[in-house]
Amino acid sequence: MGVVYFKRFRMEYDLRKPLFPQPELPPGYQLLAWDERLLDAHAETKYRCFRWEMDANVFPCLGDMDGCRRLMAEIVLRGAFVPEATWLLEYRVPGERRAERCGTIQGVADGDTGSIQNVGVTPEHRGLGLGSALLWHSLAGFKRAGIERVHLEVTSDNTGACRLYERLGFQSTRVVYKASEVAFAEW
Ligand SMILES: CC(C)(COP(=O)(O)OP(=O)(O)OC[C@H]1O[C@@H](n2cnc3c(N)ncnc32)[C@H](O)[C@@H]1OP(=O)(O)O)[C@@H](O)C(=O)NCCC(=O)NCCS
Repeated sequence: MGVVYFKRFRMEYDLRKPLFPQPELPPGYQLLAWDERLLDAHAETKYRCFRWEMDANVFPCLGDMDGCRRLMAEIVLRGAFVPEATWLLEYRVPGERRAERCGTIQGVADGDTGSIQNVGVTPEHRGLGLGSALLWHSLAGFKRAGIERVHLEVTSDNTGACRLYERLGFQSTRVVYKASEVAFAEW
């Protein structure tokens, strides 16, 4: 094992200004507000969003189903959990009763500062505006909860996500480094 440092941007959204325009959900998609019975569905969706992504190297728990369950339980059990900023996205397959969970976002807060945890959309559903919709609903939930500013962290190499956050009005305020243990083939 070796330690690798991942460069990450801390980005902030000022909720005292108006939110960016609410993105419309494409047909078939709906957002589910937080309900504790959805804890496992959030964890499983989080896993499918992140298992093959670079953030699963930064936070190995994201690449593991049990790790995602533990992470979700920790988020929800923290006194700082913000249910209003936590959403699950589902897609109803046309002509079928089955619904597929395809996106997740959670919020926590410390005083008047909120923090977005792991926004994710499963690979088959990306590029449709769903990530933007999850972010909008999470920010609107923080605002309803009286939060004035919200931050998130994004790995600097995750250029698509960085571009998305900037386009929506997040501003990069700081560079941070996250140490992570990584297994090397030959160390
Ligand atoms: C980042 C993410 C949530 C965006 O979701 P999305 O539903 O595709 O977002 P939207 O459709 O609203 O916006 C698409 C934008 O995201 C960018 N994007 C980032 N990663 C992408 C991907 N893998 N596929 C498609 N678009 C992606 C696109 O470049 C696009 O920006 P552009 O219009 O400037 O090109 C999604 O790609 C994802 O879950 N990625 C893996 C998990 C992750 O890295 N999450 C961020 C943690 S900080």
